[in-house]
Amino acid sequence: MAEVNIYEGAIDKGLEGVVACTTAVSFIVGNTLIYRGYTIEDLAANSTFEEVTYLLWNGRMPSKSELESFTAELNKNMTLDPAYVSVLKTLPTNVHPMAWLRSAVSLMSHWDTDANDNSHEANMRKAVRLTAKMGSIVTAFEAIRNKREILTPQAGKSIAWNFMYMLKGTEPEADIVKLFDTCLILHADHELNCSAFATRVTTSSLSDLHSAVVSAIGALKGSLHGGANEQVMVMLAKIGTIEKAQQFVKDALDAKEKVMGIGHRVYKDGDPRAAILRKFSEQLTKKMGKPELYQISALIDDTMQKEKGLMPNVDFYSATVYHAMGIPTDIFTPIFAVSRIAGWIAHANEQYEKNRIYRPRGKWQGKENLTWKSAEQR
Ligand code: COA
Repeated sequence: MAEVNIYEGAIDKGLEGVVACTTAVSFIVGNTLIYRGYTIEDLAANSTFEEVTYLLWNGRMPSKSELESFTAELNKNMTLDPAYVSVLKTLPTNVHPMAWLRSAVSLMSHWDTDANDNSHEANMRKAVRLTAKMGSIVTAFEAIRNKREILTPQAGKSIAWNFMYMLKGTEPEADIVKLFDTCLILHADHELNCSAFATRVTTSSLSDLHSAVVSAIGALKGSLHGGANEQVMVMLAKIGTIEKAQQFVKDALDAKEKVMGIGHRVYKDGDPRAAILRKFSEQLTKKMGKPELYQISALIDDTMQKEKGLMPNVDFYSATVYHAMGIPTDIFTPIFAVSRIAGWIAHANEQYEKNRIYRPRGKWQGKENLTWKSAEQR
């Protein structure tokens, strides 16, 4: 059997330490994250999700007029085609919203006139439609399962504003929209995370953008990736009171169970996004009259640092932030997709631009030299 010459130390270790491709989209540098050269702290404090999306796709900040026309283009594309909506209404809602979203995004390609066109121009048109519609699809799910009317996105309003409006049916408060928009910025991209890698792998076969995004949604759904934010809320509900928090963590560690929202493959001294979200969590849980949710979270965070030297990731405090915004727990991970679509598209485009199909090898550990025998002889 021919010897496979790959990084031995990474085999069966989730490709830890393996550099899979060159990228100029986003990068983890020490304790911070940069999108196209700008730190996440800078963007979170000053930018908007629309501007960050432009930045991720184009590699530079837009001029004022470019931003205005890009934002208007996104806004114009938020509305879902009525024929598509009528098919969405036939999909049973008895699955996880991420599974429904995966089907809905796949179905979307049937109404996209560029579905079979892989040119850069067509991909950018599809990118706008996918990004603009992702929030409309998630909120349509919420409306359909609650037998409510699907609201039409409002002209002149951002993706963050319209998401909150369509989810709840009332005009959102400006400060909530601002915080939510910042959450979208924080989740927009993250280097070679599992779903970005899934996007790139699918793109590398020269498959289409909808297929790449469907792959990414499937990867994001898992509890070790985007699904962790929902699991954090489930965990907090299980713990219930602050008195039980430390013991819960100790029991989980004794049982070798993962504490959701904690730990990271790359950041070992803390995730910069978690530091920002921690402040939002404190502020919003106090505002909603449930400060104990933040206090329990902070105690879990401290205990995990002391017991295991592990720090929270982006999913840990985003859970209480979304909860305090009145968002249903199982919609947390779909919100991740509403934001991360920006990064997936940037990665797909980068992959198309300098593509070679991903095709690694496996290290053989199976049987050899077997000979087929008929069923009677086995
Ligand atoms: N709770 C308890 N222990 C944890 C942990 C957690 N959340 N995260 C990591 N560990 C421990 C592992 O048990 C392992 O300990 P050991 O060496 O004593 O066996 C060690 O830390 C390394 O963990 P490992 O799972 O190998 O790290 P990874 O790089 O493969 O995984 C994550 C990274 C993020 C998937 C992992 O930390 C995790 O599962 N976290 C919870 C899920 C989550 O929040 N996902 C969102 C990621 S943004």
